[in-house]
Amino acid sequence: MGIETALYDEPAWYDLLHESGTKEEASLVLDLFRLHGNGGKEVLEPACGTGRLLKFFQARGFRVTGYDINERALAFARKRNRHARLIKSGMTRFCEPESFDLAFNLIGTFRHLMSDADALRHLALTARSLRPGGIYIVQFDLSDYDGQQDDEETWDAREGKRAIDHVMISIAPERKKRLEKILHFLTLKEAGKSKVLKSAYDLRSYDLPQWEALVARSPFKIIDAMIHPELGPGVRDGVFVLRAKR
Ligand SMILES: C[S@@+](CC[C@H](N)C(=O)[O-])C[C@H]1O[C@@H](n2cnc3c(N)ncnc32)[C@H](O)[C@@H]1O
Repeated sequence: MGIETALYDEPAWYDLLHESGTKEEASLVLDLFRLHGNGGKEVLEPACGTGRLLKFFQARGFRVTGYDINERALAFARKRNRHARLIKSGMTRFCEPESFDLAFNLIGTFRHLMSDADALRHLALTARSLRPGGIYIVQFDLSDYDGQQDDEETWDAREGKRAIDHVMISIAPERKKRLEKILHFLTLKEAGKSKVLKSAYDLRSYDLPQWEALVARSPFKIIDAMIHPELGPGVRDGVFVLRAKR
């Protein structure tokens, strides 16, 4: 049994872990695009990882582009999504002016941007990459600094002879520091062997006023929002549809 360090470096296991939520997550994006979008066919996923969500859009006739900084995730995505454009790039660098109708960024990935400057740069580049009427859908957990507590979540997934057990611990952020520490412990089991994989990283936290203030300083405005009741103590799921102010 070995100890490894990055969940993002294990794309096949990452995908298995997220498989049960993929259809529901992608369907929500598609529904929101049908409601608020411009009817176009060009989709962009910043920080696309394994491309699991892009695959859903490709199967429904969209042309898809994704970018990520992780080579291993991209290699996995390229093998699986042969007709997708998959590019090595970062959220503070990628821009293809007026090229996409829909962009999306789910499961808290936006919170990998660790400063206002980086988040604003990313929003500006993404706004510039959208065609007129294009939308950017962003989903992440919103913090409530007065109520949020450290939390532990467990889930597992299985496929044939492969199985994964997952424990995720989040350390509640402080309003001023805005750092939520995330720890993942994964037990990967295959062909009678198992190994433990450990990931630790910080995510930037947002409460609703912090997020609204950020968007107000960007080229986007929020045109729709769905904020779900508490997921855990002091945490709510926020889904936001952004369109450029122009
Ligand atoms: C939680 S995963 C999400 C992957 C994919 N979007 C999904 O929903 O399955 C976060 C991804 O963000 C990527 N990432 C983190 N920081 C990034 C950055 N600054 N620019 C581009 N990709 C980044 C990681 O490599 C990882 O693949």
